Amino acid sequence: MAPQTTIPQISSVVGAEHVLIEPELIISYVTDWTGRYSGDALAVVRPGNADEVAQVIRICAASGVSVVPQGGNTGLVGGSIPNQESNSVVLSLTRLDSLGDIDAVTGQVTCGAGVTLAQLQRHAHAAGWEFGVDLAARDSATIGGMVATNAGGIHVVGNGMMRKQVLGLEAVLANGEVIRSMSGLAKNNTGYDLTQLLCGSEGTLGVITEVALQLVRPRETELVLAGCESVQQAVEIASGFTGKLAAAELIDRAGIECVSRVTGIAVPFSTRFHLLIEIVGDIDFAQLESLEHATLAMDARDRENFWALRERITEAAAVEAAGVSHKLDISVPLSELDSIYRDISSLLLQPEVRNVVLFGHLMDGNFHVSFVTDTDDETLDIAILELVAARGGSISAEHGVGHMKPEYLHLSRSGAEIAAMRGIKGALDPAGILNPGVLLPQD
Ligand code: FAD
Ligand code: LAC
Ligand code: ZN
Repeated sequence: MAPQTTIPQISSVVGAEHVLIEPELIISYVTDWTGRYSGDALAVVRPGNADEVAQVIRICAASGVSVVPQGGNTGLVGGSIPNQESNSVVLSLTRLDSLGDIDAVTGQVTCGAGVTLAQLQRHAHAAGWEFGVDLAARDSATIGGMVATNAGGIHVVGNGMMRKQVLGLEAVLANGEVIRSMSGLAKNNTGYDLTQLLCGSEGTLGVITEVALQLVRPRETELVLAGCESVQQAVEIASGFTGKLAAAELIDRAGIECVSRVTGIAVPFSTRFHLLIEIVGDIDFAQLESLEHATLAMDARDRENFWALRERITEAAAVEAAGVSHKLDISVPLSELDSIYRDISSLLLQPEVRNVVLFGHLMDGNFHVSFVTDTDDETLDIAILELVAARGGSISAEHGVGHMKPEYLHLSRSGAEIAAMRGIKGALDPAGILNPGVLLPQD
C-alpha cells in the first residue's frame, strides 16, 4: 500500500487541480478505447513540464507506487491502462503541449509529448511541411504515445514508421533522472542509441516528455479506389505503382459494408476487396484504365469519402460489435499475405464468431483482424497468432504488446531476445515501477 503522504506530495508538485482522485473523474483514464481493458489507480496525475514529471516519478519510486504513462489513451492493446491493484498513478502527459518553430532549412521541429498528431499536422502544414506518420486517431493520439508505441498508420509504405521520424527525445527514467538528446544532429555515433531504444518501449523504460521530429515536404498525390477479388490481386495492383506509393490500404467485403452502414457512404464496387491507393505525382491513365474496377478521387469530397471508408472501420466495427471484441494486428512477409488471409478467414468460420473484418496496410504485410464472440475466450486469437508465427510474421505489427500480448511474445521473439529485453528493463527500472505488466511476460 502507498503511504498516505504520496498523493499530497504529488499534489504539492503539480497542483491539487491536476490530481484527479474521484472515481467519476478517473474512469475514462482507467478504461481503454475498446472498453476491453480497465484497471484502478490511486490518482490521475497531470504534470505540466518535464521537471514535474521527474519529481512525481521520484515520489512514486520512493513510495513503491507504479507509474502508468498515458497520452491520448487510443492504444488498442491496453498499454495505457493500470492493473487492478490500485497501487499506481496514471501519468497523463497531455499538458506537455508545446510546439517549437519549424526549422525552415531542415524541417526539424520539437514537440511536447502531449501534442496531438492533428495539432502537429496543422502546425507543419502552416509552415509548408507535413508529418510523415498519419493515423485515424489523430485528434487524440499524442506524439509521446506514438513514439512509445512506434506507431505505423497509413503512410508507412512511403515514409516509414514513427521511429524513422524521431531525431531525438527527452525522457524521465524510473530513478527520476532526465535523458535528453534534442540537438537534431545528423551524425552522432557516441554509443547506444537511447532515443531509438525508447521508441516502441510502451512506457516501460522511461516517460517521454519532448521529441525532436523530422518533417517531410508535402507531395501532390492522387487517390484511387480499386476493386479486386483476392489479396494477391491487390498486391499485384499495388506493386504496379512501386516507388510512387504513399499509401496502399486493403478493406474486405465485410469491412466496407460495415463502414458503409455506419457512415452512409455508398460501397463503390461489388468486389470482394477494395484497395485504396495513394499515388505520388501524376496518374498514368492507361495504367488506371487497365484495372477492371477503379475510380479516381476527383475532388476533396471524394478523397474524404474514400479515406473514410478505410479509416472509420475500427470505429464502425466498434459501433456494431455487441459482445467480446477481438482485435489482432499481425504482419507477415508480403509473399505470405494472401495465404494467411485465407487461413485466418477459414479459422474464423465458426458458429460462435461474428462480425469478422480483415483490413489493413497492404504493402506493409499488415492485417488488422477484428471479430466478435459472446464469451471472452482467447483460443482463436492464439490459433491466429500461431499461424502468423509459423509464417515468420509478427504478432504485433504496429499497435504494440501492451497488456494484451505479453504471454504471446515468445511467438515473435526468441528466448535470448526476451532475456535481453528483461536485462534492459532491469537495468533502467530495477524496481519495475514503470508500466508493470506491459510488454514483458510475467516471470
Ligand atoms: P496511449 O494509448 O495513451 O498509450 C499507448 C502506450 O504508450 C502505452 O503503453 C503508454 O503507457 C505509452 N505512452 C503514452 N504516452 C507516453 C509517454 N509520453 N511516454 C512514455 N510512454 C507513453 N496505431 C497505429 O500504429 N496505426 C494506425 O493506423 C492506428 N489507427 C488507429 C485508429 C483508431 C480509430 C484508434 C482508436 C487507434 C489507432 N491506432 C493506430 C492505435 C493508437 O492510436 C496508437 O497506438 C497511438 O500511437 C497511441 O497514442 P496515444 O497517445 O493514444 O497513446
Ligand atoms: C487502423 C488501426 C486499427 O489501421 O491501426 O485503422
Ligand atoms: Zn493500422
